[in-house]
Amino acid sequence: MPIKNRFAEMQQEVTGWRRHLHENPELMYELHKTAAFVQERLHGFGITDVTPGIGKTGVVAVIEGKTNTSGRVIGLRADMDALPIHEASGVDYASKTPGVMHACGHDGHTAILLGAAKYLAETRNFDGKVVLIFQPAEEGGAGALAMCQDGLMERWGIQEVYGLHNMPGKPVGEFAIRSGALLASSDEFEITVTGKGGHAAAPHDSIDTTLVAAQIVVSLHSIVSRNVNPVKRVVLTVGTFETDSTASNVIAHTAKLQGTVRTLDTEYRAQAEDWVRRVATSTAEAFGASAEVTWSPGYPVTFNTETETGHAIEAARAVGVAVDENTSPIMPSEDFSYMLEERPGAYIFLGNGDTPMCHHPAYIFDDEAIPLGCSWFAELVERRMPAA
Ligand code: NI
Repeated sequence: MPIKNRFAEMQQEVTGWRRHLHENPELMYELHKTAAFVQERLHGFGITDVTPGIGKTGVVAVIEGKTNTSGRVIGLRADMDALPIHEASGVDYASKTPGVMHACGHDGHTAILLGAAKYLAETRNFDGKVVLIFQPAEEGGAGALAMCQDGLMERWGIQEVYGLHNMPGKPVGEFAIRSGALLASSDEFEITVTGKGGHAAAPHDSIDTTLVAAQIVVSLHSIVSRNVNPVKRVVLTVGTFETDSTASNVIAHTAKLQGTVRTLDTEYRAQAEDWVRRVATSTAEAFGASAEVTWSPGYPVTFNTETETGHAIEAARAVGVAVDENTSPIMPSEDFSYMLEERPGAYIFLGNGDTPMCHHPAYIFDDEAIPLGCSWFAELVERRMPAA
C-alpha cells in the first residue's frame, strides 16, 4: 500500500494514542481529558499555536508550512466524542467507563489527525497553512456548529475543510466518496393532538384523539409518496405514538407523536416542515380536534463540493488500494455538514474492515486503517499546497 513510510514507522505510537482514547471515552462536550490529551500531544510535536475552548471543548491548532506564498489555509477536522453505549467488543483496551464507549471510531479519527499533525509539523513540506480542528459533540450535540459559531472559519481564515469517517464493511485500504450529498439531513418533529376525552361507550360525546392521531400518522405517510419526486431521497418515520388514556374503556384527550424527516435534498428539506404542519393541523381540524407541531431542525445534508471532492479523490488514489469515487449516499447524518455549509470541502469514508456497524456495542476500530487516514490528510495538504 502506498502509504507514507513515516506513518508505517509511527503506526504503533498512533495506535497507542488511539487505544488510550478508547480506554478513556468521554461524551458530548465533556471532553476535558480528551482535549487535554490532544493539546499535550500537539505541544509535544512542537506546535505552539494551540487554542482550546473553541465550541466549549474543541481544540484548534495551526501548522505553518516552510513557506506561505500560496496564502492557502486548509482545515482538517476530527471528532473526539464517544457514545452512551456499554462496550461489548471484548478488546483488551476496552472502555474503563461503564456505559460509555468509542463505538463510532472517533478515537481513531482523533488519533489519525494527531498522527498527520506530527508528520506535518516535522516535515512542513508545504506552502501555506494547516488548521487542525478537533471538535466535541458530533453525536447529537452539534459540536461542529458550536465551533463555527465561535468564529472558527473567520478567526483562522479557513478556506476549505476536509474530514473522514471510518466505514465498517468496507475493506481497510479502500476509500469511498462522492461529489454532492453524501449523508442526509435529520430534522425532528413532535405533534400534540388534542381532542375531547370521554367514556369509551359514548364516542358521540367525545372527539377520539387516538383515531385523529392515527389518521395523522397515515396522512403523514402520504407526504413522501405523493409530494416527492420518486428519484429523490426523503424518508419520514413516526417513531412514537402515546396517548393519555390509561384504560381500554377511556377515550384519550391528548396524544403525542414524535418522528423524523431525513433527506439528501435541501429543497425538500426546506419544504418538509410546512408539509408536516399542514397535514397534521388540517387532519386534526377535519375531526374537530387540534394539533400543535414543534419542529426541531437537526444536522444539515453533508454536501461535498465538486472541486474539493476531486482533491480528496486524488489524495485517496495516491494512498489507497481502491477508491469508490461515486459511492451511494447514506441516510445517517453528520455534523461536519455545518462546516461544509460555511466552506467548500469534502468528507470521505475510510474502510474499516469486517466489524459490526458504528454505534454497535461490539464495534471495533481497525488500527490498520490509521496509516491510511494519516497519509490521506498529509497527501491532501502536500498536493493542495505544494512546497514552493
Ligand atoms: Ni461517527
